[in-house]
Amino acid sequence: MTRPMCILVTGGAGYIGSHTVLQLLLNGYSTVVVDNLDNSSEVAISRVRELAGDRGRNLSFHKMDIRDKPALEQLFASTKFDAVIHFAGLKAVGESVQKPLMYYNNNIVGTITLLEVMAAYGCKKLVFSSSATVYGWPKELPCTEEFPLSAANPYGRTKLMIEEMCRDVYASDPEWKFVLLRYFNPVGAHPSGRIGEDPHGIPNNLMPFIQHVAVGRQPALKVFGTDYSTKDGTGVRDYIHVVDLADGHTAALAKLSDPKIGCEVYNLGTGKGTSVLEMVSAFEKASGKKIPLIKTARRPGDAEIVYASTTKAERELNWKAKYGIEEMCRDQWNWASRNPYGYQTEAKKLGA
Ligand code: NAD
Ligand code: UFG
Repeated sequence: MTRPMCILVTGGAGYIGSHTVLQLLLNGYSTVVVDNLDNSSEVAISRVRELAGDRGRNLSFHKMDIRDKPALEQLFASTKFDAVIHFAGLKAVGESVQKPLMYYNNNIVGTITLLEVMAAYGCKKLVFSSSATVYGWPKELPCTEEFPLSAANPYGRTKLMIEEMCRDVYASDPEWKFVLLRYFNPVGAHPSGRIGEDPHGIPNNLMPFIQHVAVGRQPALKVFGTDYSTKDGTGVRDYIHVVDLADGHTAALAKLSDPKIGCEVYNLGTGKGTSVLEMVSAFEKASGKKIPLIKTARRPGDAEIVYASTTKAERELNWKAKYGIEEMCRDQWNWASRNPYGYQTEAKKLGA
């Protein structure tokens, strides 16, 4: 019997990571998660194990910071990884403006450390979590992978720099294979309601904020800008169900086995734009909850309209998002209503 492919998942206890690890297990991969739990909980790992049934035994977890080079080396010395999916990073735009060095240290130093250890142990296949943030305020739509890149804040610059770093590493050594995935706006949760997004502190992003309003943790949603040149004046984004996004990673792993691939970049989005008010109304419909709104000024650095061209991912990864905003809101609410305080309640019970 051939051994299942073994994938190292950095940041695998986080929102997108936990959903991806589950899809990998269900697709027959063995996974090793390293996460420092800076923005996540080990409860997510135990729930992924539970959802994976028998295959849950193919998941192991190490509480580790990817900047801890000796610990990472020890892990690579004891396990042969076929590829790495690299989610670990800090992602709050506002915080990155306040604490740029913390972001550069965590995201850039973390990635350099990871790539150095991978190279030393001959594991040269990486899927990296990039972001639509690298398109800045796009001049045209939909955003194609060839668009000029820019960054409006330190977080965005870390994504841009890591992309460039991967391109340089590949240019220096064509044994490397990289798939850089530019996520649009991941939302929703696993349909079981057992795993979902549980940001520490006050959420920065639209859907987790709406979720906190719906469960009474915040009084109202501030709508950032009602004077954009869009259908209803509010910002437009390409929201993608996190399970679709997770499936995009299995497609990316398959692509890494293509002998012709070098360093490739793909958008993961749906190609559809939805406004803030449309999202609020879809969530209200799915949850039966009224979301009080406070219309405020634009948030500095926000683009007006961003949505993806999905052609390249469809053609080359054989992947296409299946879910629409109704399913995204249904699953977001299912998760929120069952876990109004995210993983905290169970973590407290376990004394974690
Ligand atoms: P998340 O915060 O839920 O997950 C990131 C995980 O990485 C967390 O569990 C955190 O504890 C861990 N981590 C951070 N620094 C680490 C370190 N130095 N060592 C070990 N673990 C560390 O975020 P997410 O939404 O799941 O995002 C995953 C990746 O996707 C991130 O790189 C993020 O920048 C990127 N991304 C996210 C979005 C989004 O809107 N959620 C959009 C585009 C790109
Ligand atoms: N918004 C509000 N109120 C809020 C939060 C957001 O009105 O409380 C609006 C924003 O102005 C924007 C839309 O909702 O029009 C979406 O905002 P998010 O913060 O959810 O998402 P962004 O598109 O601004 O940015 C997110 C991540 C970035 C990432 C990008 C693309 O924060 O890191 O998606 O993946 F790069």
